[in-house]
Amino acid sequence: MTIEILPARLANQIAAGEVVERPSSVVKELVENSLDAGATTIKIDIEKGGAKRIRISDNGSGIVKDELTLALSRHATSKIKNLNDLEGICSLGFRGEALASISSVARLTLTSKTAEQESAWQAVAEGRDMAVALQPAAHPNGTTIDVVDLFFNTPARRKFLRTEKTEFSHIEEVIKRIALARFDVTFILSHNQKVVKHFKSVNNKSLYGKRVAQICGQKFIDHALEVDCHHGDLHFTGWIGLPSFARSQNDLCFSYVNGRMMRDKLINHAIRQAYSDMLPVNTYPAFVLFLELDVREVDVNVHPAKHEVRFHQGRYIHDFIYSVCHNALSDNINGELLPEQADQSLAISDIQPEVSTVNYPKSQSVEAHDGAHQASRDYIKPLTKVADVHSQPYQNTNQGHQSNYSSYTHSNNQVSRNAAQAYQTLMTPLSEGEQSDGEKPDNEKLIGVKSLSVANVNEASMFTKVVDEQYALINLADELRLLALNKLEQAVKFIEVKNRWQHDFVSQPLLLPIKITLDQQQVVFVERHATALKKIGIVATVVTKNSVQIRQFPALLRNKDVNFSFNKLLTLLLVDDNNELTNSDWQQAFASLLTADSYDNKQAENLISLSQRQLNSAFEQQLRLNSVVVDLTSSITKLTNAE
Ligand SMILES: Nc1ncnc2c1ncn2[C@@H]1O[C@H](COP(=O)(O)OP(=O)(O)OP(=O)(O)O)[C@@H](O)[C@H]1O
Ligand SMILES: [Mg+2]
Repeated sequence: MTIEILPARLANQIAAGEVVERPSSVVKELVENSLDAGATTIKIDIEKGGAKRIRISDNGSGIVKDELTLALSRHATSKIKNLNDLEGICSLGFRGEALASISSVARLTLTSKTAEQESAWQAVAEGRDMAVALQPAAHPNGTTIDVVDLFFNTPARRKFLRTEKTEFSHIEEVIKRIALARFDVTFILSHNQKVVKHFKSVNNKSLYGKRVAQICGQKFIDHALEVDCHHGDLHFTGWIGLPSFARSQNDLCFSYVNGRMMRDKLINHAIRQAYSDMLPVNTYPAFVLFLELDVREVDVNVHPAKHEVRFHQGRYIHDFIYSVCHNALSDNINGELLPEQADQSLAISDIQPEVSTVNYPKSQSVEAHDGAHQASRDYIKPLTKVADVHSQPYQNTNQGHQSNYSSYTHSNNQVSRNAAQAYQTLMTPLSEGEQSDGEKPDNEKLIGVKSLSVANVNEASMFTKVVDEQYALINLADELRLLALNKLEQAVKFIEVKNRWQHDFVSQPLLLPIKITLDQQQVVFVERHATALKKIGIVATVVTKNSVQIRQFPALLRNKDVNFSFNKLLTLLLVDDNNELTNSDWQQAFASLLTADSYDNKQAENLISLSQRQLNSAFEQQLRLNSVVVDLTSSITKLTNAE
């Protein structure tokens, strides 16, 4: 075969193979063009999932008549001029390929008017050489690009299109992602002439949370921590969902680098690693996070659809993201109010802020200067000055981060070590065997978290009924079992208490001090363990040889009978007088006081699902330990005899 230059359309169609995968990729490219043109309102009209029509109109700068032809040609861009520009890309586009590619696989009409021009012009690329025909048109300032019959001339690609609904859902996803990145722009998305999404521009920072809630759901914002951290040239902001808001899919993982939406392995890994063992297995975190950094520190020209970037200092960025997220999460995990607990008066977390210096999340839209925001700013400061230098100091040859980073390290060295280790794992290619588990969430896949299979432990379908207000009939791996609810709750409370143990528990003065009669051994115990009792919030003074007076009691036990709880505590702890009590003994005993006295169906259901989240891989084990198989033999015999 002789060597020949490919006709323009064919060359563009080949290029389109990489950029134009499906209707949503067309939408992404066109909306990005509108954003690059400074548009503040972008209308996206879709027909039949985008296969029939994708029309994007904006009020951006427009394209002058003389450049319309160029705009449709390959390798024509207004965004970079030389190699130097390529090393510091500020716009979303830069390849000069999108319009040429799209117009080679669809019927594309470009209509545009600049403010300086009196009238608008329309351009269409035709034929094998994609010659551009121009004609006058009516259009306000800005641009409309109308893409009709996508893949009409590439039937093989058209075959890959999924149903109208599926394709449209991909488009919706793209718009959501972009709308999260640009609060200052209004987006109106219609499908088959019906407005489906309308995101109004918000210019006040305090209202950003509203748009996030509109896109990710109010529940996400209600269960998210707001982060905002500057470090050197890096600025990291956004929302990270609390572990209790873990998702079964990665549908709320939004990260952006300099306003560009990303599916970057390194960023996702750093974030997931920050959650480490806080997330139940097979779940994904939810986050909307924005990283801003010097454009020269990041190479955006590494992925055809620009979904990934290459950071010049990957390790540094990884550690930074990890540290900010991990700090925010671990500072809050102990005080977290899990959704299932919200209606329980004994939720540990809703009381803790009184004693803790950490302000717990629940960061709804936050005014730039209000207290909550200030608090979140404080606790997320991940890097503190220390004398000893990071073991593997950051080597920056370009921008002078080195001075910053090498003299700053995470307040908890272990965290940095973990981050470094995780980064190594990420960068070590997986062996073939490991790669085969493609569908597992990355935290499991990459860090090798070993977990008990919970495939047959599905809390949603497991619970059937509460018996005697204390027990639940459950179906565990096709076995009918009777579960002691209060034992299970104790296991959960134990973890919560243990996590909070460094801080004293909130103590509430009793309206009237209560005098309790005890035996001598108990009185000695109270005297001897005054400090430990105080730690959990009990202030008791010995009045006589066989009585004590209780003046303060744990806030967490505010709904319980003081006398009963106190006696129960002593009974639990005074088992063996010769043995020294460990922290764990106290934690177990206190956890046991925190459990409910009885359960209804709803409470039991909530408890089981909370346990699954809190206990993670120990969930099944706890279920088995605290339950017995229900023996149905005698019932069956009765039924058989009755026949
Ligand atoms: N909506 C728009 N408003 C104003 N100018 C536009 C618009 N869309 C495209 N252009 C102009 O047309 C040029 C070509 O667009 P195209 O998307 O093909 O390339 P690009 O955005 O420069 O790079 P990339 O291929 O990476 O997207 C742009 O550089 C820009 O000057
Ligand atoms: Mg473009």
